[in-house]
Amino acid sequence: MGQQFGRRSWAEPWKIKMVEPICMITPEERLKACREAGYNTFLMRSEDVYIDLLTDSGTSAMSDRQWAGIMLGDEAYAGSRNFYHLEEAVQNYYGYQYVIPTHQGRGAEHLISQATINQGDYIPGNMYFTTTRLHQELAGGTFVDVIIDEGHDPTDLHPFKGNVDLDKLQALVDKVGADKIPYVSLAGTVNMAGGQPVSMANVRDLRAFCDRYDIRIYLDATRMYENAFFIQEREDGYASKSIAEILKEFCSYTDAAWMSAKKDHLVNIGGWLAVNDADVAERARNMVVVYEGLHTYGGMAGRDMEALAIGIAEGIMDDHVASRVRQVRYLGKLLMDWDIPIVEPVGGHAIFLDAKRFYPHIPQDHFPAQTLTAQLYLDSGVRSMERGVVSAGRDPETGAHRYPALELTRLTIPRRVYTQAHMDVVAESIKAVYDVREATKGLQMVFEPEYLRFFQARFEPLT
Ligand SMILES: Cc1ncc(COP(=O)(O)O)c(C=O)c1O
Repeated sequence: MGQQFGRRSWAEPWKIKMVEPICMITPEERLKACREAGYNTFLMRSEDVYIDLLTDSGTSAMSDRQWAGIMLGDEAYAGSRNFYHLEEAVQNYYGYQYVIPTHQGRGAEHLISQATINQGDYIPGNMYFTTTRLHQELAGGTFVDVIIDEGHDPTDLHPFKGNVDLDKLQALVDKVGADKIPYVSLAGTVNMAGGQPVSMANVRDLRAFCDRYDIRIYLDATRMYENAFFIQEREDGYASKSIAEILKEFCSYTDAAWMSAKKDHLVNIGGWLAVNDADVAERARNMVVVYEGLHTYGGMAGRDMEALAIGIAEGIMDDHVASRVRQVRYLGKLLMDWDIPIVEPVGGHAIFLDAKRFYPHIPQDHFPAQTLTAQLYLDSGVRSMERGVVSAGRDPETGAHRYPALELTRLTIPRRVYTQAHMDVVAESIKAVYDVREATKGLQMVFEPEYLRFFQARFEPLT
C-alpha cells in the first residue's frame, strides 16, 4: 500500500494524457463560500473546491477510446446506431433481454417504479437509497429495510454487509402477503451502508425464496462491478473467475436491473433499465417516451450512448476495478492508522467517516455528518457529502425526521481522476479536523425543500 506500508505491488492501469488545473482558495474565501452555500456542499461552486469528493457519479475521467466514441455519435432521432451498441453491451455483460436507455439512474427508477408498483404495495430492499426509495414512495409503495443487522453497524467486519436477511423478508411476507410485494429492491454494492457488497450465496438464496412466492428481484446495478470484485476477493469458488463472469452469474438470479451509468460505466451522463419480462418492458417503453425521450435514446445524445457502450466494456476489466477499490482502501488505511472512525470494512467507492464517533458530543439533531462536511471544506477545500439524518429525510406518514443508525460523511473517489498525493492531502485534512473535534459545534437547518432535502437544504452554525 505505498511506501508507508511496504512494497507497492500495483499501480493504476492507465497513464494521464490530459489534465484539468485545480487550486485551493484561501481560508477566508472558503469561509465566504461555505456561508453562501448554506453549509451545504451541494450548493457550492466547483471552482471553490480543491479536491472534489462529493460523488463518484458522472465525475470519472473518460478514456481516449471513449472520447473517440464521442466523435462517432449518430444523432438520428430514431434508431441511432449508438443505441444498438449500447443494447448489445448491456445484453452481453448483464444478460437481460430488453434494454431501455434513460438520462440517468433515477430516470430508470421512475420507469420501473411506475410500471410495477401499485398503491399500498411494499418494497423490501437491502437498505434504502435516496432517489430509489422516493420513486417507490411516489408510485404508492412503502420501502421496508431487510438488510442484515450488520449493515447498520459501522464497526462490524462482516464481509458481505449488503446481504438480505431472509428472516426479515419472511416476516414481511407473513405480515402483508406476497401479492403486496411486487419485487425485492436489491442493490450491489449498498451505497448508504458504506459501499458494502452482497454475496453470490445470498442472491442465490434470495432467488430460491422469491421463486417460492412468485416475487421478482430487481437489481440496482449501479456499482455491481465493484460488488463482483468483492465476490472475487472474498467468496469461496470465485477467486479465479473474472469480474465479467461473476457479474453475469449474479444478474442471472435477478429479473431486471436499473443503472446509473455515471458510476461503473465511466461516463458523465447516462443510465438504463433492462428487464426480462416482456410486459414490464412494454410498460416501461410506453413511459419512456413521456418522461425521457424515444426508446432508442432515452434522454441521451447518440455520442453519450457510444461513450457509454465503450465504458461498459472498459469498466469491467479486472485490473481497472481492482486499482479503483485499492485506491479507496489506501485512503481508508491512512485514516485507520490515525484511529479516525470510519465504516469498516472499507467499501468500493468511498470512505465513510462515522460522524457519531467523530463528534460524540454533537446530537443527531445538530447534524454531525453535515457539520463534518463543512469543517473539512473549511480546512482544505475538500468537498464531501452528508449521508445521515439529512439524507434520510422525513417519514411521509408522521413528518418526523428519520434517524438512521448510520450518521456518515462520505468521501467519494471519482474513477481515474485523483492520484495518491491527493489521497494523502485528504487524509491529512481529515486528521486536522479530527484533532480539533472537541471544540466543534453542530448546525441548525434553516431551509428545507420538500424532496431529497440533502441536495438543497441550508444550514447555519450553532453558537
Ligand atoms: C445506488 C444508487 N442508485 C441510484 C442512483 C441514482 O442515479 P442517478 O444519480 O444517475 O440518477 C445512485 C446515484 O448516486 C446510486 O448511488
